[in-house]
Amino acid sequence: MKKEVEGFKEIINKETVLVLDFGGQYSQIIARKIRELGVYCEIEPFDFDFEKIKQKKLAGIVFSGGPGSVNGDEALVVDLRVFELNVPILGICYGAQLIASSFGGKVHHGERGEYGQTQTEFDLNCELFKGLEKSSVTWMSHFDSIIELPKGFEVVAKSKNTEIVAMQNRHDKIFAVQFHPEVNHTVFGTKIISNFLFEICGCEKNWFIENVSSKLIEQIKLTVKDQKVLLALSGGVDSCVLAALLSKAIGKNLTAVFVDNGFMRKGEVDEIKKVFSSWDMSFVAVDARAQFLEKIAGVTDPEQKRKLIGEQFIRVFEEQAKKIGKVAFFAQGTIYPDLIESGLKKSASLIKSPHNVGGLPSHVDFDHLLEPLKMFFKDEVRKIGQELNLPEQIVKRQPFPGPGLSIRVLGQVTEEKLEILREADAIFRAEIEKRGLNKHASQYFAALSASKTVGVKGDERSYEHIIILRAVETFDFMTANFVNLPYEVLKAVAFRIVNEVDGVNRVVYDITTKPPATIEFE
Ligand code: XMP
Repeated sequence: MKKEVEGFKEIINKETVLVLDFGGQYSQIIARKIRELGVYCEIEPFDFDFEKIKQKKLAGIVFSGGPGSVNGDEALVVDLRVFELNVPILGICYGAQLIASSFGGKVHHGERGEYGQTQTEFDLNCELFKGLEKSSVTWMSHFDSIIELPKGFEVVAKSKNTEIVAMQNRHDKIFAVQFHPEVNHTVFGTKIISNFLFEICGCEKNWFIENVSSKLIEQIKLTVKDQKVLLALSGGVDSCVLAALLSKAIGKNLTAVFVDNGFMRKGEVDEIKKVFSSWDMSFVAVDARAQFLEKIAGVTDPEQKRKLIGEQFIRVFEEQAKKIGKVAFFAQGTIYPDLIESGLKKSASLIKSPHNVGGLPSHVDFDHLLEPLKMFFKDEVRKIGQELNLPEQIVKRQPFPGPGLSIRVLGQVTEEKLEILREADAIFRAEIEKRGLNKHASQYFAALSASKTVGVKGDERSYEHIIILRAVETFDFMTANFVNLPYEVLKAVAFRIVNEVDGVNRVVYDITTKPPATIEFE
């Protein structure tokens, strides 16, 4: 890939609140909360390029939490020039401790950490806590504590166990809270963030911009002109919304390539072909089932599967580009969390490489990469889809991972296992949807265990596969809870699967939350 196309960021020429990411698991939640409150927000790694952020129209900065200790040998530090930018700063958890240590306060590694809900007493004269109740619950997750105030700071919140739960330097507009205002368990968390944005930073409520789709369409026209674009169309929300934008902007100069990798759900390939064949663009569906299956034959490691599949996708797109001729842009529906999870987040450990970005091989034979949605979160992409009048079935579609069923067949993938899983998954989804339970589940699907179990069918011993059912509710896909499905429903699903799907003699339901589990199994 020679060049990434810029220009789409300029559409968002807004006053920005910056979240500096110290590797905390909630950094994205902070950014989304800020955007939901109507203020544009971006995330940068803790070791940001100072000259770059100086160019932004900054309204405020938030230091996120993080797993490290400011006293540790490998403590993540911040470029101190950030305090000279003259914008309000809010430090959260690790971010609060970092502010304390940067200004000469003391941070102590406690004997016992403080986790969970904590009754906290607030100083209501502090602008950050304006409109709160004097005492309410906050959510803590820390080992280290600030034990000595830095010069110029005063205590503005405390709890039974912690003297300095929050501190402020009113003159320099620097605030630090030990708890997490971004999580829902902090009763007045949203109010605290809102106070920071509107009372302290003086932000205007001007995000989410209306008519963002028409601006994106204009920018695509300006960028692409009369050249050709190849779009990687997976059928998921992000690539469908991008297809709609591109089709409106450049019509027939767009070729949307849908690759049937053999890892799609039952009936999905036909549905996608039906929807997109009628749009104003060239639509190509490539049957690459055999190539993909061969590529991951015998592979058991999930990350290896993702990488090999990502690579195979690109090779198929390259082949198609040759057929089309003179393709100038490769477009894909990368969204903001994909960018953050695949590299921006140097300080956090990589949990899974996302397909869009992480799966791209180092050499890709396209001149330009076109990713107009890369600054948007998923719910914002859905809003753009609604603005474009896309059908509900596309805009509200539950997420489906790029590697598809290949990471839901645990361990080695074979055609036979895929077929079993496809049938079981279709039954589960149909039973959920029939009862309207899909309204309560953000994602619901089946997976096929890597091991077989003994059972009895008729009067004979069987040795067959286990189907695992998973249904989760989640707001942001970073944390998730399992759905409390009625036993009657689980019983009906299990009965149908063992009776209708050959090769399955056991069905189980996953009742783990994320964390510690993830939503997918691999
Ligand atoms: P996890 O399993 O990490 O999933 O809790 C969070 C969300 O991401 C989706 N997911 C993926 N999406 N490529 C994708 O495009 C992938 O490799 C991938 N892995 C997980 C998952 O379905 C859930 O919505």
